[in-house]
Amino acid sequence: LDSALTEVEMDQQLRPKLIDFHGVSMSKYFTDNWDDIQNFQARPDDVVIVTYPKAGTTWVSQILDLLYFGKTSPERQKTIPIYDRVPFLEIFIPSHPKGTELADQLTTSPRLIKTHLPVQFLPKSFWEQNCRIICVVRNAKDCAVSYYHFHRMNNIQPEPGDWSTFLKDFMDGKVVFGSWYDHVNSWLEKKETYSKLYVVFYEDLVEDSGRELDHLCSFLGLCPSPEEKESVLTKMTFENMKKDKMANYSTLTVMDQKVSPFMRKGKVGDWKNLFTVAQNEEFDEDYKEKMKNSTIKFRTEL
Ligand code: A3P
Repeated sequence: LDSALTEVEMDQQLRPKLIDFHGVSMSKYFTDNWDDIQNFQARPDDVVIVTYPKAGTTWVSQILDLLYFGKTSPERQKTIPIYDRVPFLEIFIPSHPKGTELADQLTTSPRLIKTHLPVQFLPKSFWEQNCRIICVVRNAKDCAVSYYHFHRMNNIQPEPGDWSTFLKDFMDGKVVFGSWYDHVNSWLEKKETYSKLYVVFYEDLVEDSGRELDHLCSFLGLCPSPEEKESVLTKMTFENMKKDKMANYSTLTVMDQKVSPFMRKGKVGDWKNLFTVAQNEEFDEDYKEKMKNSTIKFRTEL
């Protein structure tokens, strides 16, 4: 029977259920390889990009890859998909290599490694090796909207239902990788005790990429020439990444980009196009309560 199915139909059968994993909503694709994840051996020069999904992970992955390797191996960005250049640590889906294996096999120095794990799940080796960690944070409303569209197009995410159902699940933390509120709050709290954690806001990157690139470089100890910086700034734009097959995930069949492109809008404040007035009021009230002890301050008005 299976042979009668199209590739897209087969991929739709991949849709997982949400599971409660040590108190965090997860799916099997990010927990099935748990032993390898927890025992992952970090190297002291590893750079970890950590985010709640849809915060700009791919954007910052591409920026770091360009900063480190854009000059020495320019072919890299033209021939290797972003998910092989910057492996997704916890992913494990049928017929694809495990994220931990891809990361183990990297020969670059540093290795760039992406994860969406909440702070309490990060493999302890990264802390022991005192690795640099870059946490990308994006405002909750745009994350929710982007995550909704991502669920629609990505067959390894659970079925999202309609927007109002999804928004409620998002607010309840009943989505893969759990609560946005817990995730960002606990990662940002970590900054108080772990000095090699740097936080960059998606909204700041949109507002002034050059300024944010300078801050990132000083955290990483990099000194790109003005020409190198200019080249990174050109290659990291939404328009250029959207048409770049090695950055836009068009090579992955589990994503149906006809439903919604991975590089969707790349804007701040797109939530205004989807939230109703009532949803916005309810969200704000709930947000205030959940974030009352938070240190997060968004500089950009929404
Ligand atoms: P939208 O769905 O709002 O467009 P992640 O990589 O963490 O999954 O995040 C994906 C989001 O980052 C998408 O948001 C995507 O369009 C946006 N994004 C990716 N590259 C970008 C870029 N160069 N500039 C601005 N936004 C970008």
